[in-house]
Formats: sequence, C-alpha cells, structure tokens
Amino acid sequence: MNKLTRRDFAKSGIVAGTGTAISRMNIMGANDRINIGLIGCGDRAMQIYPIFLKEAGVNPVAVSDVYQPYLDKAVATSGKPVAKHEDFRRLLEIKEIDAVVIATPDHWHALNTIMACQAGKDVYVEKPMSLTILEGRKMVEAARKNNRVVQNGSQQRSGPHYQEAVKLIRDGAIGPVHKITVGYTRNSMPGLKPLGELGKELPKTLNWDMWLGPAPYVPFDPFRCHYNFRWFWDYSGGQMTNWGAHNLDIARWALNARGPSAVAAFGGRYAINDGGETPDVQEVIYNFPNCVVTWSGREVNRTRDEYLSFQGTKGTLSILRDGFTIAPETWRKKETPEIAPMQMKGDGKESQVLHIRNFLDCMRSRKRPVADVEEGHLTATMCHMGNIATRLGRSLKWDARKEEFISDAEANKMLSTEYRKPWRLE
Ligand SMILES: NC(=O)c1ccc[n+]([C@@H]2O[C@H](COP(=O)([O-])OP(=O)(O)OC[C@H]3O[C@@H](n4cnc5c(N)ncnc54)[C@H](O)[C@@H]3O)[C@@H](O)[C@H]2O)c1
Repeated sequence: MNKLTRRDFAKSGIVAGTGTAISRMNIMGANDRINIGLIGCGDRAMQIYPIFLKEAGVNPVAVSDVYQPYLDKAVATSGKPVAKHEDFRRLLEIKEIDAVVIATPDHWHALNTIMACQAGKDVYVEKPMSLTILEGRKMVEAARKNNRVVQNGSQQRSGPHYQEAVKLIRDGAIGPVHKITVGYTRNSMPGLKPLGELGKELPKTLNWDMWLGPAPYVPFDPFRCHYNFRWFWDYSGGQMTNWGAHNLDIARWALNARGPSAVAAFGGRYAINDGGETPDVQEVIYNFPNCVVTWSGREVNRTRDEYLSFQGTKGTLSILRDGFTIAPETWRKKETPEIAPMQMKGDGKESQVLHIRNFLDCMRSRKRPVADVEEGHLTATMCHMGNIATRLGRSLKWDARKEEFISDAEANKMLSTEYRKPWRLE
C-alpha cells in the first residue's frame, strides 16, 4: 500500500483546485453525426438536452412526452424542426436515430431502455437505473444482447475530482477505509405539493394512462405526476434511490465491489403527511468486506445537507460536487499525522458535460462508458436493498452474484413488480 507523505501530495500537482479543464480532444468531422431522440421532456431533460445539443456532431431528430406543454418546449429547445411523438414507440421506429436520451420517471426507465436497445439505439438513461432489481438485470441483458452502449446518468462518475478521489482511496491514500458515511437531509415540512401547473382535474394535454404505463392504474392525481412521483413506491424509491443513486454509487465505486453482503434498515414516513409513501426518516447500514457503509436520509430536519465521507485509518476524505478535502488523522501517542491535508476543486456542471461527452465518445469507440449499464444497475440494486430492508423493518443477507436475498422468500418477492398489461418485462 502506498504511504503518501506531505511531499508526495505536493508533487502530485492536484493540490487545491487543479484538473478541472474540459478536454477538447474529441472535435469531430461532419460524418461523425449522431442523431438523437429525447424520451421524457420534463425538468431533468431540460437540463441535459441542451448540453447534448451543444456537443459537436449531435443532431436532434425527435422528442417524445405524454404531456403536451413539455413536448412543445422540447421541440422549441431543439433549435430545428424535429418530429414529436406522444408514444415513445413511434420515436424508436425512426431508423436514423442512433441514440436516445431517457429522462422519464423511474418506473419507465427499464422499458424505455430495453425497447431502445432492441430497436438498435444506444441509450443515455437517467439515474436511478431502475424501479426494481430484476428490471436492472434485464436492462444489462438487453444492452449486451444487442451490443448497445448504455450510460447511466450518474454524472458524478465523470467528475475529475471524483475520479481522483476514487483513485486515491483505492491506492490507500487515507489508509484502509472501514467506514463510509453517506447522507442526504433537508427539511420538507410540512410536506410537498403538486407542481402549480397541474390542477386537480386531468388536463386534456396529459396522457395519464401512458404516464402510468406499467404501474398499477390509479385515477389522475397531480401530486403523483411531475417531479413528485419520487415519493411513491409504484414509480420510484424516495431519496434512497434519488440521491443514493449518486453518492452510494461513488461509495461502491471506491470500494470496487459488486455489492454488500447484508443490509439492515429502519425508517418510514413519520412526520410528513402529504400523501407520499417513501420514508422521510431512513437509516440504512450495509456490510462490505471490512467496511460498513451507512446511509442517512432525512426530510424532516436539515442539519447537515448532503455528505459523503470515507473514513480511513490515516484520514477522512469528504467529497461533494464542488470538490474534496482530506483531513488527516493523528494516531495515538504521535505528534504529527501520517499524511498531509489535501483538497481538490470540482465543478458539478463540468462533470455533467464530461459525462455526456463520455457517452458520445463511447458510441464512436464502442467502449464501455464510465457509468455503464451494469454499474448503474449494481448501484440501484444497493439503493433498492435499502428500501426493501426498510419496508420489511429487518436485516437481510444478500448474494451479490445471484442477485437475490439468502433464504428469504418475502424479501425476494420484492426483487420485481407486476406490470400492468399490456406492458411486459422481456
Ligand atoms: N442525474 C441527475 O442529477 C438527475 C437530476 C434530476 C432528475 N434526474 C432523473 O431524471 C428523471 C426524470 O426526473 P424529472 O425531475 O425530470 O421528472 P419530471 O416529472 O419533471 O419529468 C419526467 C417527464 O417524463 C414524461 N413522461 C412520463 N411518462 C412518459 C412516457 N411514457 N413517454 C415519454 N415521456 C413520459 C413526463 O410527462 C415528464 O415530462 C428521474 O429518473 C430522475 O431521477 C436525474
């Protein structure tokens, strides 16, 4: 294991805010044109679609959404005439489309991705990868079977400071890491509300049946729709999957592990009474070989915002989108720490651009992207395990190779969900 001294850090050249320049190496010729389609044109799409469109060679061809105002906004954002379809299957029929960008609610990610792979498209699909563990595995299978490049939208993986931090941790810069502390807290009291534009009645401009898709039928409820779908089990997994997909992903990546061997969790929707279902207080403990990872989710009290800390025997590396710091530990009866303090700046916006660029580069090279479908699936699996343990209120043992809970039929039932006809997971 490397022992990093103060001098090593100084020599490394990454002290205090370097290494954030975006490479301009991949300027392309006209014949490198990549034709894209957008599926799901809501809030997230309007963040990433313009970035795609700014990349050299990217040519928008069609957009799809079940909500007309967002569909029209995406057409306008495209900057040139594009086809628009309420039904994404019509978009997938367009032969000239090379890749689709998927920013639908989580319960659509699997079907959108699998059908796109079957139609011969490469896929950039937003995090969290899936609604269930079985869905994620089927997405990996579809990508491999059809030889598709599938990037999960966990853009932190493309951040130079995240990459550097993972390398440092794996190289032993802070000593062996036996504890990783991850959390996301905010105060959403007294509860969340439907987005203003949706009234109580189903608008003529929304195809609710197609919004629900494979999820169980319920009458239109504006609170279940745009953005707030995150708080309902039929469509998502709360902050556990929403933010866990980002920061547990970095934890698992640094550990270089497929997944934990066990999970224990407790929590529920204790204080917020707005109709949502997912926990507003949630504590999850994961067991890895020689390392415990904890996730704290809290929507009822914001004392610490978002955090991700790797606790090594020689120091603690704390990282967020704006950078990381290493705080050295002083051992008992020693005057000076083994390592030097260190920091590196990051830039969340830059990570996003690089992540999209990595996907486009991999489309050309046919290499695996930095957040390959399997990585997205394994991280989503970790998040789903946390929710399953919380809902069962007990600890569970996990076989990471077989992707099933050990001797636990009740938990294994929760690996998948029943789709509403005619939708099928194949
Ligand atoms: N990587 C990140 O940092 C990040 C940030 C925000 C959101 N996200 C992810 O992006 C996804 C979308 O989140 P959002 O906040 O934009 O939600 P949103 O509700 O604003 O947007 C979802 C859109 O999908 C549309 N839609 C639903 N069913 C559809 C279908 N069958 N075909 C086509 N369109 C359909 C909806 O009408 C809506 O316009 C989520 O999975 C979320 O986790 C990722």
